[in-house]
Amino acid sequence: MCGIIAYIGKEPALPILLRGLRRLEYRGYDSAGVAILNNGGLNRVKTMGKIDILSEKLKDQELLGTMGIAHTRWATHGGVTEANAHPHSALNGKLMIVHNGIIENYRELKNQLLDVSFVSQTDTEVLVHLIGKYYSGDLRQAVETALAQVRGTYGLVVTHADHPDKLIAARMGSPLVIGVGENEHYIASDATPILAYTNQVVFLDDGEIAEVSRETIKTFNVRHEHIQKRVEKIDWDEAQAEKQGFAHFMLKEIYDQPTVFQDAIRGRYNIIDGTARLGGINLTDNQIRDINRVIFIGCGTTSYAAMAGKYAFERLAGIPAEVDVASEFRYRDPVIDNHTLVFAISQSGETADTLAAVREAKRRGAVVRGIVNAVGSTIARETDGGTYIHAGPELAVASTKAYTNMIAVLILYALQFGRLRRLSLATGLRVVDALREVAQKMKETLELSEEIKKVAQKYSDYHNMMFLGRGINFSVALEGSLKLKEISYIHSEAFPGGEMKHGPLALLCPEFPVFAIMTKNQLYEKMRSNVEEVRARGAKVILLATKGDDRALELADDVIYVPETMELLEPLINTIPLQLFAYHMAVILGKDVDRPRNLAKSVTVE
Ligand code: AGP
Repeated sequence: MCGIIAYIGKEPALPILLRGLRRLEYRGYDSAGVAILNNGGLNRVKTMGKIDILSEKLKDQELLGTMGIAHTRWATHGGVTEANAHPHSALNGKLMIVHNGIIENYRELKNQLLDVSFVSQTDTEVLVHLIGKYYSGDLRQAVETALAQVRGTYGLVVTHADHPDKLIAARMGSPLVIGVGENEHYIASDATPILAYTNQVVFLDDGEIAEVSRETIKTFNVRHEHIQKRVEKIDWDEAQAEKQGFAHFMLKEIYDQPTVFQDAIRGRYNIIDGTARLGGINLTDNQIRDINRVIFIGCGTTSYAAMAGKYAFERLAGIPAEVDVASEFRYRDPVIDNHTLVFAISQSGETADTLAAVREAKRRGAVVRGIVNAVGSTIARETDGGTYIHAGPELAVASTKAYTNMIAVLILYALQFGRLRRLSLATGLRVVDALREVAQKMKETLELSEEIKKVAQKYSDYHNMMFLGRGINFSVALEGSLKLKEISYIHSEAFPGGEMKHGPLALLCPEFPVFAIMTKNQLYEKMRSNVEEVRARGAKVILLATKGDDRALELADDVIYVPETMELLEPLINTIPLQLFAYHMAVILGKDVDRPRNLAKSVTVE
């Protein structure tokens, strides 16, 4: 998730842009850049790393221009290099762009630009050259013509040295806000960097383009018709704006899940062949067919995402799959060879145990690939390929959107592997259809938040809780238990439903409530029997059930109903109520939700 800030007005743009970039650093940064219109030309400076490095590089430059654009990059396409940093330019530096989003068809568009010598690996550079191709004096028209050919998402700002009185902004899938000042305007990815100057803003909607001068904002819809947009007043402070109005980063990231889930699957599935194509794996189809075993390694929440992946690989790809907690893998004596595919999974890409496991697996000759969120991170660089999960920066210590995006990528891989083996077209198409419905079902599930908050309130005096699930929902139970314990500090444990009678049942009593996942799937009746065992011991029961399952009411003190989905995709939906339950419980108990005690966001030590 990159950050954009642009300014056109009466003050020197540079200090405004640098301050705005600092306010946007929470969106993630691996590089940054600015372009200022100065003395008739666009002066561009880009650096890798923090904004301070960019600021240092700019300090001796006399850039007094009153119009400019700036960007902090969270890499999606292309590594972390200065060349890949924004702004990107065309027309010999007269045209420049900053962009947040993913241009899905940038490779096809590149075929229209065979005469261009590209200097970066980014999709954004293709877009600015496409705009340059159509530019013949009317800047907005050139942007509109180019965007008509684009598939994907963008929030972008374009400037041209021959147009010192206008900036062009456009939005499709990545937010853009225009701050309204006195003969000056600000354009940004969100309100955070604008609030220091004005709380009067115009929100662009998808498909809209704005032509912004010092005095006016002209907005146009997708049919290029002029439209009137309301100026709205924001009553957030800057801290709230960083969280886009949410009380905590964790809650914002829980609500990010439908959007970032679509970023994870966008352009990676095929609705004709009922398969997926994750090119980053760097294996030929025959090399994939030669894999006879898969080992997933990760830690904490990531290892629970891996468990869901295990079920998917066995069910769809028909390959033996196992999950190893990285800190165990690196010290046990794993029997692996060059037909074993080891997937190292990590949000941060810097977890010491997972990195050590990667090195051990490579030493033993395994095929090692990464499933990572942070582009250019150590694990991403030390594996011989893999896939980025596109969850955007995850700032809360408790992982939420990274977990569901990891599962999205694991299901895509299981589908790709399965369709290269015995998985039928019909089943592949069913999986693809189910994946395409997930984001909407996530949104429906998020609407349960207030109801879940009431349930959390009811159980906020308990000091223990047990989570139960069967099959792929055991991984959900483990994740729900970890979420609760790590941010509310309530002791919680998770067990497979069938394990209760082998010991854990002894714990149950009215003071030890149980949160059971009893959604409609092939293990429903088995789970129902386990819940009856629990009820017979007098424990309170919270049930996660499938909408329409009235029988659940007979068994539970509280029922939370979720939309039905394909069993293998259930973790993508069923985990959300458990994330919200833990979140509300931590807030009710007055805990530091985003920074729980004793924990770090990235465990870079053993
Ligand atoms: C989960 O909420 C925790 N933040 C923790 O378990 C985390 O998932 C684990 O440390 C792995 O981190 P990684 O994905 O960055 O490797």
